[in-house]
Order: sequence, then C-alpha cells, then structure tokens
Amino acid sequence: MADNTLKVAIISGSLRKGSYNTALARFVAKSMSNGHPVEIDEISLNDLDLPMFSEDLEADGLPASVIELKDRMISADAILFASPEYNGSISGALKNAIDWASRPREGEASLACFKGKTAGLLAASPGAIGGLRGIRHVRQILTQLHMVVVPAEFALGVAHQAFDDNGDMTDERAATMAKGVGLAVIEMTNALKNTK
Ligand code: FNR
Repeated sequence: MADNTLKVAIISGSLRKGSYNTALARFVAKSMSNGHPVEIDEISLNDLDLPMFSEDLEADGLPASVIELKDRMISADAILFASPEYNGSISGALKNAIDWASRPREGEASLACFKGKTAGLLAASPGAIGGLRGIRHVRQILTQLHMVVVPAEFALGVAHQAFDDNGDMTDERAATMAKGVGLAVIEMTNALKNTK
C-alpha cells in the first residue's frame, strides 16, 4: 500500500529561546498530526547556526550546516514558516536561511528546496497585528522561489499572552485560525501529490 504520510518541516525565523514564532509553528504542526498521517521535522535555525551568506564562502563549498538544511527541506513535502516581523519585514535569520537554501549543488534541480512544495505562513508578535506586514514579504520571496504558498495565513497578535504552559493557544478563535493554515497545507499538499 502506498505510504500517504506527508512530511512537513517547520522553520521558525526566530533564534530566541522562548520564541513566540517557534511556539506558534509547533502548535500548528502538532494540530496537523491530529487525524492525519503527518511526520513533522522541526528545522531549528538556532541549532544549524548557519553562517551569513557570502558568495566567497559558497565558492569554498557549501558548509555542512547548509547541506543539512537543504537535505531536510528537500525531503519535506511541505514547509511551515513562522517569521517574526522585524521592522515590517522578514527576520534576517530566515532570509539568510532561504538565501542559502536557494543555492544549487552541482547537478541539483533548480530551486530543489522550494519548487512545487507547499508553504504555510505564520507570524507572531506581542504587537496588535501579529506580524502581518512581515508575512507579506515572506510570501513574495517564497512565491519567487516557486513554492505553492497557501492563501490561508495567520498572524498572532499579543503573542506573549497567547500560550499556556503546555504550548497550547488559549484563545479558541485564534487557535482555530492557526490550525486552519495547517489544514490548508495538508489539503494543498495532498492535491499536488495526486497530480504527480
Ligand atoms: C521587533 N518587533 C516587531 N514587532 C512587530 O510587530 N513589528 C515590527 O516591525 C517589529 N520590529 C522589530 C524589530 C526588531 C529588530 C526586533 C528585535 C523586534 C518585536 C518582535 O515582534 C518581538 O520581539 C517578537 O517577540 C519576536 O518574535 P519571537 O522571537 O518571539 O519569535
């Protein structure tokens, strides 16, 4: 029987311990596993500790951390991104990871980490609008890289009050909206798989 388990990677654009974006990504990923055959891979940019992108560094060969990032992205069917909004835009850490991942290895298909994969977008901020302006920039970048970014997205405002000690969201309406991004990712990924 064909294995219909979806491989979903999550990437938080925050390196901060106690990050609200990481908490939101984990919450949505956990909800995706409820009743769906989903395997989650949390790709921690903190653990990977990628160097700042430089074409000079790249010319010496991709660093091991970049190869790990690329391999894990390539093996995912879908990726959930949660980015803090820094000055109305994407975090530098996430943009740096995306820039590295966009660089091909010899013989590798163009944009192998992105092309044809589903993306779901999340943001969290203590501010009122939750990083909605940043999400728009993340969408633009990932669309440029040929990801299929689902229309549903969720920006969590007042994020410092949103989670209980178990990492669950306390506001039911906000939780439903967050989970909606996960569901949209599952539906889109399954639809794309069925066309292959
Ligand atoms: C911020 N923060 C912020 N928040 C926001 O809603 N809109 C913004 O434009 C910015 N800009 C910004 C710039 C910089 C340099 C920092 C350090 C912070 C606040 C930010 O949302 C807050 O620190 C979050 O807690 C960051 O996300 P994590 O680390 O909790 O995931």
